[in-house]
Amino acid sequence: VTITSGLSSRRIAVVGATGVVGREVLAVLADRGVPASSIVALASSRSVGTGIPYRGSTLTVGEATAGSFAGIDVAIFTASSAVARALAPHALEAGATVVDNSSAFRLAKDVPLIVPEINGGLISAGEAKPRIIANPNCSAIILLMAVEPVRRRFGLSSIVVSTYQAVSGAGQAGLDALTEEIALARESGGPGRSQASPFAEPCFLNVFSHNSAVDPVTGLNGEEQKIIDESRKILGWPGLAVTPTCVRVPVMRAHSEAITIRLEKPASYAEVVAAYEGFPGVRVMDDRASNRFPTPLKAAGNDDVLVGRFRPDPSRELDASGRTDAWCLFACGDQLRKGAALNAVQIAERLPLRAR
Ligand SMILES: NC(=O)c1ccc[n+]([C@@H]2O[C@H](COP(=O)([O-])OP(=O)(O)OC[C@H]3O[C@@H](n4cnc5c(N)ncnc54)[C@H](OP(=O)(O)O)[C@@H]3O)[C@@H](O)[C@H]2O)c1
Repeated sequence: VTITSGLSSRRIAVVGATGVVGREVLAVLADRGVPASSIVALASSRSVGTGIPYRGSTLTVGEATAGSFAGIDVAIFTASSAVARALAPHALEAGATVVDNSSAFRLAKDVPLIVPEINGGLISAGEAKPRIIANPNCSAIILLMAVEPVRRRFGLSSIVVSTYQAVSGAGQAGLDALTEEIALARESGGPGRSQASPFAEPCFLNVFSHNSAVDPVTGLNGEEQKIIDESRKILGWPGLAVTPTCVRVPVMRAHSEAITIRLEKPASYAEVVAAYEGFPGVRVMDDRASNRFPTPLKAAGNDDVLVGRFRPDPSRELDASGRTDAWCLFACGDQLRKGAALNAVQIAERLPLRAR
């Protein structure tokens, strides 16, 4: 199905087009019917000349440089923070709006940090002048999408979350590491670490604390700190209580999250489930009778964040009407799609059109 959108009339640069997020951005743009002639695929000098299949033709990758952005309306950055810091100013100067997937600008005061279903109004209402808009951390997006429908209905007072994060969160290198370790285990009969792995621990047959650096003072790793800081910024709530634990699991694609929330007002099971009705981008999958709930395999490749396993926190009493203010749930979302590429394209679609 071809969905036409405001993007079709714009020239779009994808910086990091050869990476796992960049390729997913191209897949989302293709789904939306954006023609190849509107897209400029950019990456490092290593990838110059690489062909990427796109809607029956081929995009030829060019090198991303300061001069790459002439005539570009929207530059979607899916490279590192260093690349975003070096090249985003040149994209702005050339008149493009930057949508950045890295963490370079997420906490900057004048940069909106956007999940369209939650705080997209911040950009729709904005001026049509070039600026940077940041795409949040993938675990934060999946967490807030899972919680937002309930937060709107019953208010929120705290979040405790444990993540089960896919290896593709560390890019193509993470996928390659798990693929190689599966082959290694077949040969050797046991676990082993890929030499080229971006992780210090073996992925296959293993679970380990998130690979981002641990702060020696707080004990939090970088991913946990991002979930705290970015959830607070997106919800506009600097004091929000968020307690995360971030872990990698041997899953190729899609992050899972076990979430416990405290609400301002107590709710029943039926009321919690009903809160998701009509909320875009989140799908309830809560079949207690057959024990069928969200899994990363079900979420992979899908736009929706899947939520289920809704149950009252058993450490708290239900009130006389069967309601409680403490709920547990489980969510799975494709971090390459809603956690990165899809969210970035949804942001780009909301940008006010600008006459050149
Ligand atoms: N993976 C996820 O789940 C996820 C989720 C949310 C956000 N992000 C963020 O998205 C960004 C991309 O991550 P990824 O997972 O897609 O990584 P990746 O698979 O390693 O891809 C990295 C991309 O950056 C390009 N690149 C490297 N150096 C460059 C340079 N000097 N100039 C231009 N392009 C350069 C690479 O091009 P070459 O092929 O030429 O090296 C490649 O296209 C990162 O900031 C990451 O933190 C990732």
